[in-house]
Formats: sequence, structure tokens, C-alpha cells
Amino acid sequence: MSKINVALLGYGTVGKGVYSTIESHQNRLQRLLGKEVKVVAILVRNLEKHVAPDDQVLLTANFEDILSLSDLHIVIDAIVGREPGFTYLKKAIDKGCHIVTANKEMFAFHGTELQTLALEKGVGLGYEATVAGGIPIIQTIRQLLQVNHFQKIEAILNGTSNFILTNMRKLGSTFAETLQLAKENGYAESDPTNDIEGYDALYKGMVMSQLIYGELPCIDSVKRKGITHIQPQHMKVAEEAGLRFKHVVALSKSNDEIQCKVEPVLVTDSHPFYQVEGVQNSVSITTDLLGTLQLQGPGAGMFPTASAVLEDIIQLENKPKASPAAKNSVTDQDTLLQWVIFCEYPEIEKSGQEISVIEKLDDTTWIIEGEVIPSGLSHSSSTNIFPLKGRYERKKLPLQV
Ligand SMILES: NC(=O)c1ccc[n+]([C@@H]2O[C@H](COP(=O)([O-])OP(=O)(O)OC[C@H]3O[C@@H](n4cnc5c(N)ncnc54)[C@H](OP(=O)(O)O)[C@@H]3O)[C@@H](O)[C@H]2O)c1
Repeated sequence: MSKINVALLGYGTVGKGVYSTIESHQNRLQRLLGKEVKVVAILVRNLEKHVAPDDQVLLTANFEDILSLSDLHIVIDAIVGREPGFTYLKKAIDKGCHIVTANKEMFAFHGTELQTLALEKGVGLGYEATVAGGIPIIQTIRQLLQVNHFQKIEAILNGTSNFILTNMRKLGSTFAETLQLAKENGYAESDPTNDIEGYDALYKGMVMSQLIYGELPCIDSVKRKGITHIQPQHMKVAEEAGLRFKHVVALSKSNDEIQCKVEPVLVTDSHPFYQVEGVQNSVSITTDLLGTLQLQGPGAGMFPTASAVLEDIIQLENKPKASPAAKNSVTDQDTLLQWVIFCEYPEIEKSGQEISVIEKLDDTTWIIEGEVIPSGLSHSSSTNIFPLKGRYERKKLPLQV
């Protein structure tokens, strides 16, 4: 093999970034891999929108043209959605190609099957770009899994929702106004549902679950909540109490069941996510040996994502060394939890349960503590409850209501 021939599926933000980075980093790639890396074909949906970047690159809207290339070594998936990406990658593996994907939704649902097929066929599979863009989270988890037992992972994995929450607080604006600002700045798509309702973050949590625990969370135990119900009043009260809203993915395992939650939480200034602002992503990993490690950086964008894809290309020949991940976890011992609750005081009384109120922030906002959220409160439609992370220090004597 004199060259490493690559086909790119998709030529949008990620595809273009990967193409131009392969070109700009050609010398470096040749030194690392011993051969030239050449994009020989690009697949798009609508041919009329595109021009091939050079006349030696086949630009096509027909995947069969790519499959019929005689000397193809790597297929990179930078298209959108579960299909046709899954089918295309299965065919590419069957042909004996290594595959690299940035397509998180496809990989969240079909990652396990693709990994099995790749193993059977003896080809490499990279998916670093599916979680947190440029942050090397998949490599880091793989590395840690060799000796560490995971307790929990918490992460801010969606730049759009973090941008909105940051700017609602800074500008005092409503959710709708701030979403519009995100669109104007290119940080939200015309249909932002996947980002603001937490689906995008959930897909990334699913990818990490497969890697760490060897399986997906049971669908009944998955909790996914978006950020659309957060109001300027919530922001104001939280800000005055020194708390910030973050849209967090939390992954852990207890009693052999994987817990995966995507929800807005409030963090104190002692929590590592307090300073994670704007479109930044951050991942916090807690293990038995390591304690807590935090990674932070750009979770999306043309070049951060291209960086992750190129890292995968370089690593394709290195098979993961981690032992079966399902055995490799321990339960998070943190049982005493705190919440911020926005409701009328009588509703707390109506719940009929003993609640440890550790601070009253104003007439409708309370900080409470316990092992589980009282069910009477969590089912009330006029009540908004947000988990509180980073341990809030009580400023007044405890109250029992
Ligand atoms: N953008 C990021 O920062 C980022 C970061 C990490 C991961 N990702 C993931 O990477 C993937 C690509 O994202 P992107 O932002 O580059 O999307 P994009 O800008 O919308 O580009 C998508 C590309 O895929 C092509 N495509 C879509 N469906 C296709 C089909 N059925 N057959 C052939 N080509 C098809 C499109 O062709 P046409 O142009 O002809 O329509 C377009 O060139 C997504 O799965 C995304 O979740 C994105």
C-alpha cells in the first residue's frame, strides 16, 4: 500500500474540516503513518451544492461508487442521522475498510453492532468525534478503564444549551430571546430540538455507557429533560444565591443498573462546572484510584472535530486494551443529595413528608436536602426542582417543615 486512501461520507462542517486538515497536516500524517493519506472520494446528498476540492477526488451522491473503489482503506462518516450511515458503515466494514465516525446519533444506537462487526472483520473503528468534539474523552476513558473502576461521569456535552444558559444569566433574557441570539451567532440550528431538549447530550451519554459499562442504559431508567422551562426568575434567584444552571449528563451504575440522566442542574461555585461557560464542553470523571479528573474544551466546530477524527485515523491500528467494561465499575457512594425547589411554600407542606430545608432563598425558592426527592413534590405541575451539585453550605439553622 503506497497510500492510505480515504472516502469521506458528508462534506459539511465536519467533512470539510477533515478534508482540509488532512491536506494541511499531510507531512505530519506521513511521518506518523509512513504513507501519504489521500481523500479519494466524497459522498454528498445533493451534488449540485458541491464542487470537488481537487480533480482527483471523486465527488458522488451514490454510495455504491465508493464501495466499488478498488483500493480503499478508510471510510469516514460525517453525515447526519442513524440511516443511511449505519448501512453504509456496515458495508464498508464488510469490504475490509477501517471506519471512523463523527455521527453520534448513529453510533449511540448502532455502536455495539458496528464494533462487533469490526472485530470480526479485523478492522479498526474510531469514534472519538462522537462525544465532546475536540476533547479526547474516548481515548481518556479507554486508558483509564485499564486499571480504574468508574464511579460516575458528569458532563456538559452540548455547546448550544450551555451558551443559552450562560447568556440567559448574563443578559437577564428569556429562553426564547437567548435561543434567537444563539441562532444569530451560529450556535443553534434552525431546528434546535436535539440540543435544547437534551437528545444530543443523551446520544453522547449512550456512547460513553457502551464504552464504560459495555452496554446501553435501560431505556426505562433514562431521564432526559431539556432547558426550555427555565425562566429568568429562576436565573435571578440562582445568581443571587451564587448558583449557576448547567445542562448536565450524569452516568453511573448502582445495583447493576446503569443510570443515565440528562437534566438542568444548579451548581455552586465549588463545582468544576461553575466556570464552564458559553459553548465550552466539560467532562468530569470520578474513579476509585484517580479521584476526579476534569477535561474541558471545544465540544464542536470544524477543526476541533477534525482533530478528533485525525487522532482516530492515527490510532486505527491500535486495538483497545481495556478489559470488559461491564465488570469495571463501582457504585457512587454519594447518597445525601440537595435540590433547589421553586414552588409556593404551602406546596412543601402539602407534600406531607419530612423535608430538610437548609435555606430559604426567597418566598418561592428553597434549598432542600435528603436521600431521595419527596414524591409529592416531584409530581406537582407548578413546581420546578433542580438537583444541586457542589454541596451548598447552609447559612441558617436547619428548619423542619
Ligand atoms: N458540526 C460539529 O461540530 C460536529 C461535531 C461532532 C460531531 N458532529 C456530527 O458529524 C456529522 C456531520 O455534522 P456536520 O455538522 O458536518 O453536518 P452538515 O454540515 O449538515 O453536513 C452533513 C453532510 O452530510 C451529507 N449528507 C447528509 N445526509 C446524507 C445522505 N443521506 N447521503 C449522503 N450525504 C449525506 C450532506 O450532504 P449535502 O451537503 O449534499 O446535503 C452534508 O455534506 C453529524 O452526524 C454530527 O452529529 C458534528
